[in-house]
Amino acid sequence: MLKSISLFVLALVGGVLAGEKSAGCGKAPSKFTTTKASSISVNGKNRQFTVRVPERYNKDTPYRLVFSWHQLNANMDENVRGGDTNRGGALAYYGLPPLANGTAIFVSPDGLNKGWGNSGGEDVLFFDAMFKAVTEDMCVDTGLVFSTGFSYGGAMSYALACARAEVLRAVAIISGAPLSGCSGGTKPIAYYGQHGTSDSVLNVSMGRQIRDKFVKNNGCTPLASEPQPGQNSVKTDYKGCKDGYPVEWVIHKGDHNPSQKDGNTIFAPKNTWDFFSQFK
Ligand SMILES: *[C@@H]1O[C@H](CO)[C@@H](O)[C@H](O)[C@H]1NC(C)=O
Ligand SMILES: *[C@@H]1O[C@H](CO)[C@@H](O)[C@H](O)[C@H]1NC(C)=O
Repeated sequence: MLKSISLFVLALVGGVLAGEKSAGCGKAPSKFTTTKASSISVNGKNRQFTVRVPERYNKDTPYRLVFSWHQLNANMDENVRGGDTNRGGALAYYGLPPLANGTAIFVSPDGLNKGWGNSGGEDVLFFDAMFKAVTEDMCVDTGLVFSTGFSYGGAMSYALACARAEVLRAVAIISGAPLSGCSGGTKPIAYYGQHGTSDSVLNVSMGRQIRDKFVKNNGCTPLASEPQPGQNSVKTDYKGCKDGYPVEWVIHKGDHNPSQKDGNTIFAPKNTWDFFSQFK
């Protein structure tokens, strides 16, 4: 018997995750209808997060779900509002909502001690709890779940790439490093990485180190030599990766900055959204 009503097969490229409508599809959402902060208990700790729902939310449309992790010494409110991009801050939700144009639900979690120490895996469990709460209440395509962040938020996205490669479709890691651990880390996941060669906080070598785990897991051919930035950033798409598991690497001349520009344009948002939205 066909259970094709609940099974929403969007794409089945080389055995990659099939999209499925979440439990929240078809019913009126009750919890996350505004950008008011929500809280949830994880490991006995009260954790805060904000959910941003598209203006014209339709309970029957399976949305993309994007987790947006703030940098160290910021918090979810700054991630929701956007920081000062001329002083090391990031755009709201890393600049993605205007590009998503109503096709994605965004989640901005709040870190303990303003970061993502992920002690004993507690921030990965926080992710699990938010994922469950949001997908039970809202209509999500569970094959199109993403994670992004800058610096410590990139580290957290890396920890999830390691621990939750079967839940996330792709990650975008801006100036990241292995600061939040890597439990598992043996499975492939589509990976976008961006780093500056003048990064004075998290050396570019750390960005290369975490990238290379997924160059390997995804079966991509390592580069013969590291690409160097020009006046503008330089984008490299790895060759030979398993179907559905690309790795893209963007190198630039700048320092530790989520809002690095080519000319007048902050390039992380479009790069990230182009990378995420290639998956249907
Ligand atoms: C944004 O979405 C609206 C509604 O679906 C659509 O009419 C519009 O063309 C989209 N804009 C862009 C720039 O894709
Ligand atoms: C990054 O580390 C390399 C190797 O240790 C070093 O040569 C380079 O100067 C460092 N870059 C920065 C911006 O600190």
